[in-house]
Amino acid sequence: MTARRFDGKVAIVTGASRGIGLGVAQRLVDDGAKVVITARKTEALEAAVAELGPDNAVYVAGPADDTDHQDETVAKAIETFGGLDFLVNNTGINPTYGPMIEMDLAAGRKIFDVNVLGAVSWAQKAWAASLKENGGAIVNIASVAGQKPAPMIGMYGASKAAVIHVTQELSLELAPAVRVNAVAPAVVKTRFAGALYEGREEEVASAYPLKRLGVPEDIAGAVTFLLSQDAAWMTGQCLTIDGGLTLTGGV
Ligand SMILES: NC(=O)c1ccc[n+]([C@@H]2O[C@H](COP(=O)([O-])OP(=O)(O)OC[C@H]3O[C@@H](n4cnc5c(N)ncnc54)[C@H](OP(=O)(O)O)[C@@H]3O)[C@@H](O)[C@H]2O)c1
Repeated sequence: MTARRFDGKVAIVTGASRGIGLGVAQRLVDDGAKVVITARKTEALEAAVAELGPDNAVYVAGPADDTDHQDETVAKAIETFGGLDFLVNNTGINPTYGPMIEMDLAAGRKIFDVNVLGAVSWAQKAWAASLKENGGAIVNIASVAGQKPAPMIGMYGASKAAVIHVTQELSLELAPAVRVNAVAPAVVKTRFAGALYEGREEEVASAYPLKRLGVPEDIAGAVTFLLSQDAAWMTGQCLTIDGGLTLTGGV
């Protein structure tokens, strides 16, 4: 069998029972890696592992911002697959919609707990358990909503701006052993973004120069590039993956 670029590599992909996370996990597995996937609901995780192949993937169920869950997941990667090389901080939530001036502060705190502090904490755990000693790479999933104001989803946008900043901070702190990069997608067809396009996909897609919305595979290609040796001299960067949308002034 021909060698694959991630043979012998082990990755944690958070929020990977469906959507972008599952797309990233699938691409990692296709390219030879073993993956540990996480999410809250067990049934969807079981189905995802069946899809990825039980020899290639295991899951740990839990909330992304729970530090015990993070410890358990990192330990599972090392116990099951003998190490940890990559972390993909993919879990992100947006439980509020509306003007920031009226936002429920508890919802805002939760967004920051999961999207920002969660990502930092996962990086701390992966670093301490393996990456510090053995090297590796981290990719954080940001959003074009973090690159300029995002009306009605403002706190989500602020959290993604923080993810981009955290990526830069960690890239300096963890170099040269570990590279830390991010991606900023526009609308990708997943359950999370359903309200933004369902029932009017053609109309929404028409604003994109490439005339279609994203699919998880579009993001998986960029994330795995950033994890790979092809990106060996890249750190602290955020790749925009948006079908050309932001060039037109749209988000
Ligand atoms: N789709 C887009 O248009 C788009 C655009 C830009 C950025 N993004 C970012 O891409 C990432 C993935 O989004 P997606 O569109 O793929 O979403 P999705 O299809 O809804 O999948 C979300 C995944 O995360 C898990 N999850 C959600 N909340 C969680 C929590 N609190 N703790 C642990 N797991 C949790 C879900 O499983 P459970 O529900 O079972 O926990 C599921 O596996 C997010 O960071 C999002 O902000 C998405």
